[in-house]
Amino acid sequence: EGKRRVFSGIQPSGDVQLGNYIGAIKGWVDRQEEKENYFCIVDLHALTVPQEPDELRHQTRSLAAMLFAAGLDPEKCTIFVQSHVTAHAEACWLLNCVTPIGWLERMTQFKAKAENQESVSTGLLDYPVLMAGDILLYDAHEVPVGEDQRQHVELARDIAQRFNHIYGDTFVVPVGVIPEIGGRVMGLNDPTMKMSKSYAHIRGHAIRMLDDPKEIERTIKRAVTDTGNEIRFSDEPERAGVNNLLGIYKVITGMDEAAVEAEFANARGYGDLKSRVAEVVVEALTPIRERYEALMQDVDALDRLLERGAERAQSVAGPKLDEIKQSMGL
Ligand code: ADP
Ligand code: NA
Repeated sequence: EGKRRVFSGIQPSGDVQLGNYIGAIKGWVDRQEEKENYFCIVDLHALTVPQEPDELRHQTRSLAAMLFAAGLDPEKCTIFVQSHVTAHAEACWLLNCVTPIGWLERMTQFKAKAENQESVSTGLLDYPVLMAGDILLYDAHEVPVGEDQRQHVELARDIAQRFNHIYGDTFVVPVGVIPEIGGRVMGLNDPTMKMSKSYAHIRGHAIRMLDDPKEIERTIKRAVTDTGNEIRFSDEPERAGVNNLLGIYKVITGMDEAAVEAEFANARGYGDLKSRVAEVVVEALTPIRERYEALMQDVDALDRLLERGAERAQSVAGPKLDEIKQSMGL
C-alpha cells in the first residue's frame, strides 16, 4: 500500500534524555499511524566508541523498554535491534566501497568526537556509512532526526545517488525530516551545548527519562538562565537558557509560542517558569517511567517483542541486500 516509509535510529548508550524524547521519540509516537515505521536500536553504532559489554547489553534492552513505554506500538511499527539483522553490517561494507573517504573526513560530528582523542576507531569515521545503509536498506523516504543528524542524512542521500548513478536505480533517495520544534534541546547546565545521552551523567546537564520527580525538579531549578526576567522566546545567545526552557514547555504541552508567552506574561521571574516547566515534564514522564519499570520486570517478553521486530525488519532488509549485491556483481 501507499504509506511512506520512515526509518529512524537511536543509540543504546547513556541514559535516554529529554532531548531524545522531544526531538525524536515523541514525534515517532505521534505519527506512528500515518507511516510505515522502522525504528532501530543501533547497537552497532554504539560500538564506535568504547563500551562495557554487559552495560551495552543492558542499555539495549533498556532502550527497547523505553521506546515501548513512551508509546510506540509493536503492532504499528517495527522496533528492532540493529545487530539482530545482519544486513546492516553487510550493507555498510558494500556502501563503503562507493563512498569517497573525503566525504567522511568532512563530517562535523566525526571531527567533534575525534577531537582531543588519543585514538579513534575506524568505526567512528565510518559511522555515517553504516547509518546510510540503515536507511537505504528499507527504501525509507523519510528520516526523522534532530538537527545534529542533518549532515549524516545528507551523506546518505549522496551515497544513494552515487550508487544509483554507478549501478543503476537501486535506492530511494531519502530526506531528513527535522522537527520544527524540539529539533535541538540544549543542556540545562550549559545552553550552548545540545543535551545528549553522552553527557547525561554530568550533574545538571540533562533530564533523564528515568529521573524521579524530585531529581527533575532539582535539575530544572538549577538550569542556567540569565540576569534578566523577561519570559519570551528568543534567539539571542545570552537568552538561550530561557529559550530552551520555553521550548521544552511548548513541545510537552503542545501549545504554540504565543500561547506559551501569554501564559507567562504575569509570572514573577524565572522561578515561576522553572516550576511550571518542572511540573509539565514530571507529568509527562511519570507514566512513561512506570510503564518502563513494568516492561523491565519481564525481560523474556521484551526479548520476544524484539525478535518479532527483527523478523519483520529482515523481511525487508534481506531482499534489499540481495538486490544491492546483485547490482554490484556479487
Ligand atoms: P544523544 O546525542 O543523546 O546520544 P542520539 O545521537 O542517540 O542522541 O540520537 C537519538 C535521536 O535523538 C536522534 O534523532 C537525535 O537527533 C535526537 N536528539 C538527540 N539529542 C537531541 C537534542 N538535544 N534535541 C533534540 N533531538 C535530539
Ligand atoms: Na550520541
